[in-house]
Amino acid sequence: MAELSSRLFLEYAAAVRPEVDAALDLASQYDADCPVVLREAIRHSLLAPGKRLRPLLVLMSAEACGCPREGAMPAACAVEMVHTYSLIHDDLPAMDDDDWRRGRPSCHARFGEAMAILAGDALLAQAFEVLSGGIRSPDVAAACCLELARAAGASALVGGQVDDLQSPFPGNAGAPPRSPGDGRPEPREPAGLVLQAQLERIHRRKTGAMFRVSLRLGGIVARTAPPRLAALDAFGQKLGLAFQIVDDLLDIKGDPTALGKSVGKDREQRKLTFPALLGVEGSRRRAEAMIREAQQQLLVFGAQAGCLESLASYVLERNR
Ligand code: IPE
Ligand code: IPE
Ligand code: MG
Ligand code: MG
Ligand code: MG
Repeated sequence: MAELSSRLFLEYAAAVRPEVDAALDLASQYDADCPVVLREAIRHSLLAPGKRLRPLLVLMSAEACGCPREGAMPAACAVEMVHTYSLIHDDLPAMDDDDWRRGRPSCHARFGEAMAILAGDALLAQAFEVLSGGIRSPDVAAACCLELARAAGASALVGGQVDDLQSPFPGNAGAPPRSPGDGRPEPREPAGLVLQAQLERIHRRKTGAMFRVSLRLGGIVARTAPPRLAALDAFGQKLGLAFQIVDDLLDIKGDPTALGKSVGKDREQRKLTFPALLGVEGSRRRAEAMIREAQQQLLVFGAQAGCLESLASYVLERNR
């Protein structure tokens, strides 16, 4: 049943991902004032084989609201640019210090730290250029810029990244973190619940905000009514949390070749993660519950949200 339920999304992604890739390729040509090395660094990361989940969410959300996906393509490109910038910076030695990303050397590993920082800076700025220049209606463009700026900002993505870096698992000072998959029940003691709330707050901002805004941008471009926008928002929040729980699980159990990035880093860097707190099984159950809750938010859309519902199942099944 699970396999069947992700199929719709996988078919959609196979058909539409090339459209996203072509739009990103076109958007990253640049004129002669862009140094060649900067262009190469940007394209190395942006055009690498990412899953494109966030831009696909923008497009699927617009379509679920009755808008042809062409009109949402600038917003789709903009979220992928912000996401790619965040990955480039996330991999820097000062942050997670990762040398592999999307099956290639990470941007700093290939081009050096300064160029990676600058490639990220350029992508972040360009996201707003693409949004404001690509969406025809000025009021919709302005609303999209506001939403994306908030999702990328100090109280969302960047704030979440700061707390991710500053919240090592408490075992950091002494005992090792709880061993993943040890089958212990989920923490009920106050300290465990406080940590879980802290972790959810990190995931909601560092990852959830971009999922949420992707869904909202699709709805805003389609000028959808507030109740539907609220449903997309709630779906995005729950989906984003489940996505990051699965990311944390894949850091333990995933195959680095399939993932295109290194594994085992969270434990090495003593990150506060769901598996460190709840164990593998507890985390899996949490992600499954989140996905079920997410899917319930889509009822108002009926069959129009079939792809979004299917993507939610994919998030649990994914191996990359
Ligand atoms: C990785 O996101 C960063 C996280 C928020 C966990 P993805 O797993 O969507 O990465 P790409 O875009 O497919 O490379
Ligand atoms: C990254 O989370 C979130 C952002 C890039 C904003 P992770 O650090 O867990 O992502 P990966 O595992 O490196 O892809
Ligand atoms: Mg990180
Ligand atoms: Mg990382
Ligand atoms: Mg991770």
